Amino acid sequence: MLTSRSRISTSNLNDHVVVITGAGSGIGRELALLCAARGADLALCDINETGLAETADVARSAGRDVVTARVDVSDAAQMTAFADATLGHFEGVDVIVNNAGVGLIGGFLDTTVEDWEWLVSINLMGVVHGCSAFIPAMIERGHGGHVVNLASAAGLLANPQLSAYSATKFAVLGLSEALRTELAPERIGVTAICPGVINTAITQTSPIRGENIDGRRENLAATYKKRGYTPERVARNILRAVDRDRAVAPIAAEAHLMYVLSRATPPLARWISGKLAAVAK
Ligand SMILES: NC(=O)c1ccc[n+]([C@@H]2O[C@H](COP(=O)([O-])OP(=O)(O)OC[C@H]3O[C@@H](n4cnc5c(N)ncnc54)[C@H](O)[C@@H]3O)[C@@H](O)[C@H]2O)c1
Repeated sequence: MLTSRSRISTSNLNDHVVVITGAGSGIGRELALLCAARGADLALCDINETGLAETADVARSAGRDVVTARVDVSDAAQMTAFADATLGHFEGVDVIVNNAGVGLIGGFLDTTVEDWEWLVSINLMGVVHGCSAFIPAMIERGHGGHVVNLASAAGLLANPQLSAYSATKFAVLGLSEALRTELAPERIGVTAICPGVINTAITQTSPIRGENIDGRRENLAATYKKRGYTPERVARNILRAVDRDRAVAPIAAEAHLMYVLSRATPPLARWISGKLAAVAK
């Protein structure tokens, strides 16, 4: 009988194939290495070929079979070619993690239309492209599976200094919720991951708009470093969320708080988000 539960047990991923976008750094890299350590074979992509090769080397040295490709997730044709290569190499895929994403710090009035197009093309359309390229084959294979989409705590509670970023992450959350219901009859679970403040390269690579860019970047990097929540911890929590087939998985205390407040007391949540935005201003 078909059930709405995902069948993936992440404590042992032997004979499973996990696809991860943006696997050359941060959360994507640590998730790839954790999946490899638990026995999974991997299909990894990134635009950062050096970082991608480093992740793949470590996974291969753990004895795993790894397919890699340089893919810009904003390009549907590149994603399709990656899916074709992956499905030509492996019998099928069990978990798809749409992780690749970029940040952009700035209020709406400092964010250009080009900024919006760039951010939406990666953070939202990258997820759409990953889902479009891999899910039909997952359904056709008939084994069930799991789709993990990286949203953000900024996709639970809008942050005025992350207006475009928040908008893309709210969109990923909405897409994930809809997809979860649509794919339930196929025994494919869908989880939106909503990390809080995680110390990764995103603090260095995110463009900052407005004034005092250097000072704000320093402040941002120091805040993330002080918070000290590592991408390794996020990776463990992502696999736990897949195991439990969570619809939405806030990660780190601040994300849990935002999740609860945004649903229980929206006015208080908005006040807090204004205070949080002051950190980036
Ligand atoms: N770090 C945080 O605090 C945080 C919080 C919430 C959500 N997230 C989300 O987690 C995900 C991973 O972020 P991270 O913190 O590990 O950042 P990161 O910068 O360390 O890693 C992101 C990876 O994505 C890759 N990437 C960027 N654009 C790409 C593109 N167009 N095509 C393919 N690959 C691309 C980068 O090269 C990089 O390897 C992102 O979606 C991010 O929005 C991060």
